[in-house]
Amino acid sequence: MSSRFVAGMSVEEVLTVCARVNHENIAATLDSLGESVTTEAEAQKSADIYHQLLDAIEARKLNANVSVKLSQIGMDFDPALTERIAGEMVAHAHRVHSFVRIDMEGSPYTEATIAMTERLAKQYPGAVGTVLQAYLYRTATDTERLLQQGIRIRLCKGAYKEGPDIAFPAKADVDANYVNLMKRVATYSNPQTHTGVFCGIATHDEVIVNHMRHFVSKQKIDQRAFEFQMLYGVRRDLQRRLAAEGYGVRVYIPFGPEWYPYFMRRLAERPANAIFLLKNFFKN
Ligand code: FDA
Repeated sequence: MSSRFVAGMSVEEVLTVCARVNHENIAATLDSLGESVTTEAEAQKSADIYHQLLDAIEARKLNANVSVKLSQIGMDFDPALTERIAGEMVAHAHRVHSFVRIDMEGSPYTEATIAMTERLAKQYPGAVGTVLQAYLYRTATDTERLLQQGIRIRLCKGAYKEGPDIAFPAKADVDANYVNLMKRVATYSNPQTHTGVFCGIATHDEVIVNHMRHFVSKQKIDQRAFEFQMLYGVRRDLQRRLAAEGYGVRVYIPFGPEWYPYFMRRLAERPANAIFLLKNFFKN
């Protein structure tokens, strides 16, 4: 079952899957799965895979970028090392006209992730962005903060367990916040340059996806001013439909030998995911 959601063990396998996805007119972001690392050598080893990916994306002309978690490149034991490694990755992406998305982890990482993204974006504008989670109260403020700097946001609901002191406990409130933030990123225009910020609407929630479709059509927002993002293997029917309608669609493709903890954590973090996985296993 995992092979539906994880694109194999090796770089070669994920590149093959990426080419297949691209063939359906769907872009990709490649995620080399890894657990939190505890040594500099492990952090560098994780980064080396990303450098290989960036080279291969360029050489094969794939429509893809990469997504990385800071804990995978040393954030738990040496943030300065992490920033050096992340900086090298973003510099590489900048050189080959690609992009590094810094995934967002649990709330202990939120501020540090945003701040590091801001510093890297100053050095390499357009080559790095991060993820904001609609379940956090602080996200409305963070959205303004990143938009004003022209930093690309992937907007998601949030996948970690957070307390009611910092996150909306009720799903309905998370969904409502998501919709508000989604409209904000879609309509933002820099007062000086009059340009928007290209953002990712990362959700499989069809109600929200439809809300966005109607909103952009009513507001006459260019379909290509943003993209929908979904996980590899989840709601493939919806991914294809949106791509056929002319929307930008990007799938997040995880791969690597460390798939098992990733897969189990997703199930454990949100037990409902087990049901989603089963239900979607039988959907196209
Ligand atoms: P919601 O959970 O409300 O589900 C709505 C519907 O979508 C379900 O009824 C089901 O049909 C379908 N669905 C949702 N998840 C599914 C699944 N796993 N399998 C099958 N069907 C599913 N989180 C985070 O904290 N940091 C991050 O960096 C990222 N990055 C990220 C990238 C991309 C491209 C996506 C799509 C998601 C993330 N996430 C994330 C995860 C995100 O925060 C969230 O946990 C999941 O996307 C589930 O929320 P939905 O918005 O899809 O809706």
